[in-house]
Amino acid sequence: MADTVSPDPVYRTEALIAEDIDSYLDTHQHKTMLRFITCGSVDDGKSTLIGRLLYDSKMIFEDQLDALQSDSKKVGTQGQEIDFALLVDGLAAEREQGITIDVAYRFFNTEKRKFIVADCPGHEQYTRNMVTGASTADLAVILVDARKGVLVQTRRHSYLCHLIGIKNIVLAVNKMDLVEYSQDTFDSIVADYAAFAQEIGIENFTALPISGFKGDNITTAPSENTLWYEGPSLIEHLENVEVLSTVAAQKPFRMPVQWVNRPNLDFRGFSGLISTGSIHPGDAVRVLPSGKTSAVKSIVTYNGDLDEAVAGQSVTVTLEDEIDCSRGDVLCTAGDPPETADQFESTIVWLNDEDLHVGRAYWLKLGTQTVSATVQPPKYRVDVNTMDRLAAKSLTLNDIGVAEVFADKPLVFESYDENRTLGGFILIDKITNATVAAGMLNFSLRRSQNVHWQPTDITRQHHADMKNQTPRVLWFTGLSGSGKSTIANEVEKKLALMNRHTFLLDGDNVRHGLNKDLGFTETDRIENIRRIGEVARLMTDAGLIVLTAFISPFRAERQMVREMLADHEFIEIFVDTPLEVAEKRDVKGLYKKAREGKLKNFTGIDSPYEPPQEPEITVNTVAMTPEEAADYIVSQILPLK
Ligand code: ADX
Repeated sequence: MADTVSPDPVYRTEALIAEDIDSYLDTHQHKTMLRFITCGSVDDGKSTLIGRLLYDSKMIFEDQLDALQSDSKKVGTQGQEIDFALLVDGLAAEREQGITIDVAYRFFNTEKRKFIVADCPGHEQYTRNMVTGASTADLAVILVDARKGVLVQTRRHSYLCHLIGIKNIVLAVNKMDLVEYSQDTFDSIVADYAAFAQEIGIENFTALPISGFKGDNITTAPSENTLWYEGPSLIEHLENVEVLSTVAAQKPFRMPVQWVNRPNLDFRGFSGLISTGSIHPGDAVRVLPSGKTSAVKSIVTYNGDLDEAVAGQSVTVTLEDEIDCSRGDVLCTAGDPPETADQFESTIVWLNDEDLHVGRAYWLKLGTQTVSATVQPPKYRVDVNTMDRLAAKSLTLNDIGVAEVFADKPLVFESYDENRTLGGFILIDKITNATVAAGMLNFSLRRSQNVHWQPTDITRQHHADMKNQTPRVLWFTGLSGSGKSTIANEVEKKLALMNRHTFLLDGDNVRHGLNKDLGFTETDRIENIRRIGEVARLMTDAGLIVLTAFISPFRAERQMVREMLADHEFIEIFVDTPLEVAEKRDVKGLYKKAREGKLKNFTGIDSPYEPPQEPEITVNTVAMTPEEAADYIVSQILPLK
């Protein structure tokens, strides 16, 4: 059957019968896969180059090719050549519909290798697309127009590729036909680029003189026009460069556990994708973060047990001992485990339209681990055009910055440079579920390893029992002037009459002491609530019923405090007073000032208030007096023990 398979099965996709497909898969299965990204704008000939690569590896369907030849004639391309840019740009138009991250992936293969090429628009405002396209790439082709040399955008793309950890950089000096294939021009561009590359830490790169349009040095080299060139053709280089999976296989074994496979009581396996290294039955392994050790009993796959599994393979591993291991844990070589830490320096690429909120808790996903994490004020952000480090208070869309990240639980990690899976993370907004940032862990902060939680003998349970009550936080939220403090004060009096041990934390009061360094910007309000949350938590540890009266305008921070506390301890009380009513009352005269523009960032006027969606208790202050509201609240929280 094999001899009926055409040299390029893609030409006859529809005619492929099952056996042909098998033989096609056999032919290509053993090939390694190279993922690469092309950077440069359309002017640099990127589309033409990609079209050329697809054409030379015969990955264009015949009907598309026919259309292309006639289109090229129509638009009057010189001579007989095909305008490959038409093909790629045509596809580009299709893909522009409805996708936010504008990266197009194309597949092709040669005798030696399979390829996936990600084509990313490279404008400054597309940093996020580039980072998305580059994050899985083994190699980057940076295109330079031979007539223009190294431009600002060449630097930007190179910087981003380097940042995202691409070790193989190809400088493709394109349009050599338009500079008479001049070696001097090529050499001087390469020298320029070498100086820049060194500055930003790119250790080496491969430079090629090419013409995507004419085909010079694409499949074979040297072309007759560049006899002075001694290196490989672009395709030869792409076919021979070492791919990440080969490098990854040589590192120590790490497998983030995706799920525990337990179909019956006799079988318990840990499934995941091996990120680096290899394992064999009998190998000593360690489960992190617990640190427990065991040995590999078997490596199970759909096609039977294996004697070896390597980076890039998805497997199920069974262990000799019954040890605890669940989703999010990392299986690793017993003698050479990765680190565990909860504070890091990291590089962050901001992907969201809404800015970073310093101090806000986001979900941080790293491999199969998910924790809650906050970003500290950025140390700096980077101007992607000049590589200058600029001061920054926050990060906005397409910004790249360096900041410390604090997680609420230890993470098993390696630096991104070592391991993209255990060092690369994303941040997710807890309320909208949007991915807001991509990040790279650079290193852990030592201080996080040297501060331990001090266990105390008199536990929170003892404290609560002595007070004969269940600790709680009654969290009042609402506009300024809604009546939070008044009602909270009434509630506290009622609880005192019931012999309850309480404490009231009030916005105006706390802002005179603990939080006197904070104002009313979003960042300061987030920090205000974070501190109150921590204080309230300590007070519940002491067995108290805590009442708090803060505007606390953002859902995310109220949610954060809720998560700090045990289940049912956080009771959100929405003091529901319409803005008009609060403004009419204007007890402190602040609404008036805000309306006159004399007070900035005033909640309800020029700073938002996000009402609770599912508060435990709502009191409507238009329908109830503070006294009635307090009675209602107390009735809702009984019994207190
Ligand atoms: S919060 O937003 O950070 O939760 P908090 O409850 O601590 O606010 O403080 C609110 C009180 O500060 C208000 O009741 C008001 O008296 C005073 N205040 C002063 N400036 C502002 C402002 N710009 N916005 C809201 N309240 C302000």
